[in-house]
Amino acid sequence: MNRIESLLSKMTLAEKLGQMTMTASSYAVTGPVIAGDSTQAIKDGTIGNLLNMVGAQHVHDMQRLAVEESRLGIPLLIGLDVIHGHRTVFPIPLGEAALFDPKMWALTAQESAREAAADGLAMTFAPMLDVSRDPRWGRSAEGPGEDPWLGARIAEAKVHGYQGNDLAAPHTLSAVAKHYCAYGAVTAGREYASVDISERTVREVHLPAFEAAVAAGVAAVMPAFTDLAGVPMTANVALLRGWLRGKLGFRGVIVSDYHAIAELIHHGVAADLAHAATLALKAGVDIDMMADAYRRGLPEALSRGWVTMAEIDTAVRRVLTLKLRLGLFDDPYRRGARPEDPAAVSARRKLARVVGSRAIVMLKNGQGVLPLTKPGLRLAVIGPLADSSVDMRGPWWGASAPEGHVTVLEGFRQMLSDAHVAHAQGVSIDDDDTSGIAAALERCETADAIILCVGEAAAMSGEAASRAHLGLPGRQRAFADAVFERARSLGKPVVVVLFSGRPLVVPWLAEKSDALLAAWFPGSEAGNAIADVVLGHVSPSGRTPVSWPRAAGQVPIFFGQRPSGRPRDAADHYTSKYLDVANDPLFPFGFGLTFGRFKYSNLRVPAGGVAESDTIVVRVDVANEGRRAAEETVFLFTHDRVASVVRPVLELKGFGKISLEPGETGTVTMLLAAADLKFLGLDLEPVFEAGDVEILVGPCADRSQLLLAGIELAHPAPSGIKR
Ligand code: BGC
Repeated sequence: MNRIESLLSKMTLAEKLGQMTMTASSYAVTGPVIAGDSTQAIKDGTIGNLLNMVGAQHVHDMQRLAVEESRLGIPLLIGLDVIHGHRTVFPIPLGEAALFDPKMWALTAQESAREAAADGLAMTFAPMLDVSRDPRWGRSAEGPGEDPWLGARIAEAKVHGYQGNDLAAPHTLSAVAKHYCAYGAVTAGREYASVDISERTVREVHLPAFEAAVAAGVAAVMPAFTDLAGVPMTANVALLRGWLRGKLGFRGVIVSDYHAIAELIHHGVAADLAHAATLALKAGVDIDMMADAYRRGLPEALSRGWVTMAEIDTAVRRVLTLKLRLGLFDDPYRRGARPEDPAAVSARRKLARVVGSRAIVMLKNGQGVLPLTKPGLRLAVIGPLADSSVDMRGPWWGASAPEGHVTVLEGFRQMLSDAHVAHAQGVSIDDDDTSGIAAALERCETADAIILCVGEAAAMSGEAASRAHLGLPGRQRAFADAVFERARSLGKPVVVVLFSGRPLVVPWLAEKSDALLAAWFPGSEAGNAIADVVLGHVSPSGRTPVSWPRAAGQVPIFFGQRPSGRPRDAADHYTSKYLDVANDPLFPFGFGLTFGRFKYSNLRVPAGGVAESDTIVVRVDVANEGRRAAEETVFLFTHDRVASVVRPVLELKGFGKISLEPGETGTVTMLLAAADLKFLGLDLEPVFEAGDVEILVGPCADRSQLLLAGIELAHPAPSGIKR
């Protein structure tokens, strides 16, 4: 009998349910002290997993209780939300998506895993893979943005980054793909609200990232809090047992979201804890996070005959298998055995600076005001986010302290001199006090340029942070207007650095600023990363992974829409449009300026029929006609114009990058597997249909900026034509 079976055969019901339970320490509140009576429960073997605990010493102390003092000595699995860094904080995931760089996506995950594992942890509740097209939803900040193909690429990079090649290695974490699925489509963007979308949209938009995570070997999956068309995900047999385990062959652990099993009662599908626990277990949920529903409900469910011991054993087996894969049985103290090499820690900070600067999306650079390179440059760095370390972390900051994240002011002061950088806050983020505006305006007098730092506080995005108004909170608009007016009278440029966990609706800011940088929440090296771009030490290259609306009434807004039967025609009343705002976003997906000026030409695609097994080679020439070196991200979209099911006007299928000196031209080559042009047919099964497909290549999801070529898919459809 193998180790797991032999353990199982010795376990009491209470011990089994312990392995199916994950409990929080009170770290987040009072430091790493286990709350309530968990210490005794760990010794009793009735709590087998913990979350929200950090510090190798504390983790090992807890581990010792389980390994040395419990009857069977089964090690604990200990996890934390290491979402975009642990102690060193990288940009929020939405900002990191803007890099369009799979190697970097993997590298930041790998570094986060190293740092968290050195703290004793073995699991991160990441990556968060919820595609979201509704910026009202605060958790957009944690996810990959609006596009399913992009989400899938991020998913695989992150899983590889966190987990490495060997889960037992002491510097890896088991990843948890979350929140399965369609959480990003909550009604009206309101947190925890119901999700009701078509099966096609679930399959086309919300599942691909999870499929990619499973294909990459993700260790665990977390169901979403939400219901999908009336079936809460925590109890969703069709999607958990059916799709995830059945169709995708996922063999790992399913860990519930926080308290989610008990919330089946609030959803209205369970009458009590025994009922809720039964539904979750039957759906395939192995670990109950924080509901205590398995420990309290399953004994009764067993005695009522609702669940079987075999079902319980299956869940326990999966949990023990993961612990085994993590190497916890062999050496439960392998993670956090020795402190990290200080050189590794400082290299990680440098990486955070590079990634922070590369996440910045330059939305406007009027008259080429950036970079600011004047010798002896004097700046006024003003606004409520100019000197706020705590906000630079963004939502979900791992185990990082609130202080120590480089603020914009600190960044500029380090790079220029203290005497050359004036500062005033002006207003705070969200109260009504405008008394500080005058002082801030005064600081502008002696500066060559004004760096205006506005946006959301970190706590305004992330979980439980939906917003109905997507403008600048508080009196920031009044403040910014006063700054613009004063700057105009002084003839000085205003560079706006906008912090947010979502695209904001700020067309006026785009209009009035001289330059506008979407900085998201850049993390520990925020100020340095921003100064690097503003001063031209780094050529900006970030591209927005979400469309920026002109008005909140446009949401949900995304480039992959289906065409209307009455496409917009300004001259024709009865066409698909708003009376009061344009259809298109203010900044489309993929948009982001650089210090170069790129011209595309000579798009080449294969002539002749393309078969399903072919790889399509797409080439395009790109010239930098600007005056500075820069990196261009080149997007590859497709559009299947005639298909048995309406296809989106643009579908992202690839991207490439090229760095060019001024005056230089290069060729970008992108490979597209013809099989990726399959779509879900009328029966929701993948189909490869013959016919013409448009290949569109260019700088963003704005058709007018894309080069167009056509390919022909040759597939002997039974009738010789498309259905
Ligand atoms: C969130 C999850 C998170 C969990 C544990 C929940 O509230 O939805 O994303 O992993 O808490 O902290």
